[in-house]
Amino acid sequence: MRLVGMIPVMISALALAACGGEAPKAPAVLVPVVPAPMQTELPAPYSGADLTKGKELFGRKCTACHFLEKTRGHQVGPNLHAVFDRGTATAEGYKYSPALLAFAEPNWTPELVDQWLLAPDSFVPGTAMRLNGVADETERRDLIAFLLIASRE
Ligand code: HEC
Repeated sequence: MRLVGMIPVMISALALAACGGEAPKAPAVLVPVVPAPMQTELPAPYSGADLTKGKELFGRKCTACHFLEKTRGHQVGPNLHAVFDRGTATAEGYKYSPALLAFAEPNWTPELVDQWLLAPDSFVPGTAMRLNGVADETERRDLIAFLLIASRE
């Protein structure tokens, strides 16, 4: 009887010894709460945006610092999977600047991302996102339309 009771204790002691007493750190899994919309389901002006151009712009202006695929982690910037659905400055395991942590908006909306991309440092003074800003309104529209879909895939 006594021996049987000790087996679970021994097993957990062995398991602890095997990994040095620390649980291995699981990669952050970011789950979107909404499925990817069709472009026709997006609000104007995003329903009329050029998604191919948006994807190309994302590759050119954002991928140096951001991964979008949920299976990848953070880079210089946080992973952007589910960015419209998870709340602002909430990607697990990413160390945000105090400025973005203090950002009062609970969620990123297309309108907020539009202002953010226009001039990150004036929109959230002190942010760690070093981007000059995307001055062209049509480019921001295409980028955001692409993100609204691709961040949920
Ligand atoms: C030079 C690196 C860099 C580039 C280029 C860059 N970002 Fe960022 N981005 C960051 C960093 C760093 C943060 C976190 C900012 C902070 O903590 O203040 C961030 C944060 C963000 C956030 C907020 C995420 C959250 O979890 O709240 C969004 C949205 C975003 N970036 C979109 C973009 C898009 C779209 C582009 C391309 C147009 C882009 N970024 C280009 C570095 C970059």
